[in-house]
Amino acid sequence: MAQNWTIGRAVSELTAAFDALGLDTPRLDARILVGHAVKLEPSLLFARADRILTEEESILIRDYAARREKHEPVARIIGHRGFWDLDFLVTPDTLDPRADTETLVAAVLKCRAQYPASRILDLGTGTGCILLSILKDWPEASGVGVDLNPGAVAVATENSNRLGFNARAFFRQGNWCDGLDENFDVIVSNPPYIAEAELPGLALDVTHFDPHLALSGGDDGLVAYRALLPEAREHLLPDGRLFLEIGSTQAPAVSALLPVHNFRLEAEHRDLGGFVRCLEAVTV
Ligand SMILES: C[S@@+](CC[C@H](N)C(=O)[O-])C[C@H]1O[C@@H](n2cnc3c(N)ncnc32)[C@H](O)[C@@H]1O
Repeated sequence: MAQNWTIGRAVSELTAAFDALGLDTPRLDARILVGHAVKLEPSLLFARADRILTEEESILIRDYAARREKHEPVARIIGHRGFWDLDFLVTPDTLDPRADTETLVAAVLKCRAQYPASRILDLGTGTGCILLSILKDWPEASGVGVDLNPGAVAVATENSNRLGFNARAFFRQGNWCDGLDENFDVIVSNPPYIAEAELPGLALDVTHFDPHLALSGGDDGLVAYRALLPEAREHLLPDGRLFLEIGSTQAPAVSALLPVHNFRLEAEHRDLGGFVRCLEAVTV
């Protein structure tokens, strides 16, 4: 280990190493990881570039760099991810929340006026990022998040407590709507939707670190939609609304499933790249 290793040199060396590996955002990753090790916001590192790192900080930075070089996402290394304008704990049991999913949150919030004191159900809640982000900007709403993975339920509960939503959010383990005896105004879901054959072609950051249960949508990517649509239909109030995240090419296939389960497509919502990533449906 270099003697007198400084914050500035650490950022430069990690940036060069990540760049050489072809990582997408080498400098940003380096700044976040060094900042995490020295407990400084990345924006403050430049002003402290000459500070010499302690041995403990140097060891941490080497460890973070080695993990990132094996494609572990930065959010998993530092243990949390910004989503909407909240910060969520992320663990090996949860999907690392994606910015694309904010499309669904924004779509749901547009229907606030219609359901003054809404009850919301989030199927496949993971970190709880969808439900808790909606509740943050919809103070009269409350809801339930469900996940098959008990580890994810524990993380969502912890996120809810840390962020101060425990009076309005409840998380439970379950297989979609199994055991739920309540009907809801709004049901949301970002289910696993990647076709099994496509998984090996995804980035290592995804395939090696996101849980398989959070990714795999079976042979054609639609297995979870087929399973949850009839259950959502049963648990949606007559004037309720369903919001589903979909993969960027899945709009025709998932739209075609809606009438089979007595839903009508009401709107399509696009992400910032222009892809339809959220379907909004009502009951027929
Ligand atoms: C794509 S992840 C979405 C996580 C989170 N909602 C988000 O947007 O970041 C899908 C989630 O569905 C959960 N899941 C998979 N099968 C399920 C099932 N049968 N019942 C309930 N949850 C399930 C997974 O454990 C995972 O947390």
